[in-house]
Amino acid sequence: MKPIQVGILGIGTVGSGVFNVLQRNQEEIKRRAGRGIEVTMVSRRNVAEAKTLVGDRAQVVADARAIIANPDIDIVVELIGGYTLAKELVLEAIAAGKHVVTANKALLAVHGTEIFAAAHAKGVMVAFEAAVAGGIPIIKALREGLTANSIQWVAGIINGTTNFILSEMRDKGLDFAVVLKEAQRLGYAEADPTFDIEGVDAAHKLTLMSAIAFGIPVQFDKAYVEGITQLGSQDIKYAEQLGYRIKLLGITKRTPQGVELRVHPSLVPAKRLIANVEGAMNAVVVQGDAVGTTLYYGKGAGSEPTASAVIADLVDITRLHTADPTNRVPHLAFQPDAMSDLQVLPMGDVVTSYYLRLRVADQAGVLATVTGLLAAADISIDAVLQREADEIGGEGATQTDVIILTHDCTESRMNAALAQMQALPTVLAPITRIRKEELA
Ligand code: NDP
Ligand code: HSE
Repeated sequence: MKPIQVGILGIGTVGSGVFNVLQRNQEEIKRRAGRGIEVTMVSRRNVAEAKTLVGDRAQVVADARAIIANPDIDIVVELIGGYTLAKELVLEAIAAGKHVVTANKALLAVHGTEIFAAAHAKGVMVAFEAAVAGGIPIIKALREGLTANSIQWVAGIINGTTNFILSEMRDKGLDFAVVLKEAQRLGYAEADPTFDIEGVDAAHKLTLMSAIAFGIPVQFDKAYVEGITQLGSQDIKYAEQLGYRIKLLGITKRTPQGVELRVHPSLVPAKRLIANVEGAMNAVVVQGDAVGTTLYYGKGAGSEPTASAVIADLVDITRLHTADPTNRVPHLAFQPDAMSDLQVLPMGDVVTSYYLRLRVADQAGVLATVTGLLAAADISIDAVLQREADEIGGEGATQTDVIILTHDCTESRMNAALAQMQALPTVLAPITRIRKEELA
């Protein structure tokens, strides 16, 4: 059978990985797919640079639309990134009857509903394994491998840049800014690194996993997003002393009231496997009612790890190319006419436990006042750690840190108690609050 023909829009880090791995493993991939998969066209504005990557093994064009217009191209791989041009190109490719593969989580988290509807109407596939957790086949696992289960929750370290930063801060005591520069140099960070450090990239990926896990529409605008820029190295140290690690987690959970969809730094017990995921690695824990807990671990970024996921999609599409569209796996795991109307919960209704750090005056009665306010709000305390004042400010210091771990309460109840504690004259700095997840 004639090889399937692929065009890559944007041959950069991931695109060159796709090209190279397909060349290197072509025989084995052909044996799996049932026919050859050939990249015959690539596009990049810097044509000379693209030519150095592909030589004369593929046609190089500056205009990505030339690939979409070519009737011989069966699958268009969008690897330009961003929202505007990428969205136009993906919709144009669908309209032209091409299957699409993309690694662009930002695009799908924000415009997924429109894109999947267009693909469904046209009877083409939009595959996006590489968009979540790079080389880890988590989309395949959630959509197909765990299809028997009622998924209860998904929690993951799904941004390599922030996990790298937190690991380096904890292990080497390095400053946030220094480690961010290193993550950029190593190619982990997004074109705009604020997407990484403010939790937006993780929220994009979580939104996609949530849709597939629970059969709800992609709703990035309803996600709660908090990054790691406000974290201090002292909190990483105190968490360690209490038996926890701080990780930027994406968490989506089915509750009787609705679906939680949230990204924020979290204390995780150090004994959990996920707490020991270091550097730029990613890991996702999925809890299903039948299977129990499953864990997926691997490289969440990088040229060839991400290419591995893109090529898995190319093989899937090649195998299903001639199948009736109604016999294909639905884009979001559930049939489009069987989506759930579960609502995404506002953050105020989310129930979790907390780590609080208060910089207080080192005076008698301060701790009793603070714990009294928590008791009055019906928030139960799990543990309290008070540092010696001279550990904080040297000999003769008049301030100290009090660290409190609480049991579960709603976020809105905690917010009200925090406002009261913050107003105390003996609380001398903004209170640090980090949510705590047992992931049991
Ligand atoms: P790069 O910046 O390395 O590559 C993007 C390429 O697109 C560049 O080579 C750029 O080249 C080209 N490009 C930009 N504008 C155009 C245009 N108008 N027409 C044609 N080509 C264009 O990005 P990555 O490869 O790192 O990322 C690609 C996508 O994959 C993004 O959506 C990203 O979020 C996602 N992703 C990346 C991962 C990674 O590890 N890097 C991991 C998982 C997902 P030129 O400027 O010469 O046109
Ligand atoms: N910037 C992303 C990360 C790349 O750090 O995880 C992979 O999606």
